[in-house]
Amino acid sequence: MCCDLRQLCLPLQVCDEVGSVRDADTLLPAIPRTSFPPTKSYIITGGLGGFGLELAQWLIERGARNLILTSRSGIRNGYQAKQVQSWKEAGITIVVSTKDVASIGGTRQLIDAASQLGPVGGIFNLAMVLKDAMIENLSTKLFQDVNKPKYDGTLNLDSVSREKCLELDHFVVFSSVSCGRGNAGQSNYGFANSTMERICEKRRQDNLPGMGTCYRKCISRFRIYHPARDTLNCKLYMMQYRIVPVPFSVVTA
Ligand SMILES: NC(=O)c1ccc[n+]([C@@H]2O[C@H](COP(=O)([O-])OP(=O)(O)OC[C@H]3O[C@@H](n4cnc5c(N)ncnc54)[C@H](OP(=O)(O)O)[C@@H]3O)[C@@H](O)[C@H]2O)c1
Repeated sequence: MCCDLRQLCLPLQVCDEVGSVRDADTLLPAIPRTSFPPTKSYIITGGLGGFGLELAQWLIERGARNLILTSRSGIRNGYQAKQVQSWKEAGITIVVSTKDVASIGGTRQLIDAASQLGPVGGIFNLAMVLKDAMIENLSTKLFQDVNKPKYDGTLNLDSVSREKCLELDHFVVFSSVSCGRGNAGQSNYGFANSTMERICEKRRQDNLPGMGTCYRKCISRFRIYHPARDTLNCKLYMMQYRIVPVPFSVVTA
């Protein structure tokens, strides 16, 4: 969230000895803090991925109590299982869904399921498929595979949420510098990210929430650095390409 802190300075009021309140000379900066009402539900597509699990944790720390995480294959490793289990033990409602936002039917079912937990307050599209190839080898199929969760998924989430999510506060797509700056072998991925950003621009024109976040490799090519989970290979890769690992708490500060 961007804001001018000078505009948010709050006048401090003090109470004198006889009990009357007056303005003090001091101005205290009021720092905005995003929070997520526990009565609402939140959808994270690709929510079992590297970023998805960290984002879920952050939403929970900021108040969210009802989350749906999507993945085509469901829980596949111990880290995902451990995170989901620990949230459930803490009383959080976590649903792992395999409903696919690449189809309009799957998107409707997903949003209906979230609405049963509470009015949908946030939709975060993190679902990603990578099929890298240099342009001469980039077939239609490779383009379509990469665009399904991002282009089709964001279009579907946009249209269904306009109809069904009347209390939506956040519509966020996880994009990449590969779309603005380009990345060798990733024309399909760059295009897919760019389409999501354009959909968000249209939403903003229509006075609806819409935001694209652009991440780059400083977080790691494979996924965001997490000391408890990153493999030795991932760490070696980061050393080789001089990637500085950044904990998620820094990214979201
Ligand atoms: N990590 C980075 O450095 C970085 C940099 C720039 C941008 N980003 C963006 O951040 C987002 C998350 O990245 P990440 O590193 O967390 O990726 P990740 O670990 O690969 O997670 C992406 C997840 O998307 C899921 N997925 C794919 N297609 C799906 C579909 N149709 N429906 C639901 N889930 C689907 C995959 O799970 P299944 O295979 O089980 O479906 C996968 O777990 C991506 O959108 C990426 O473009 C990441």
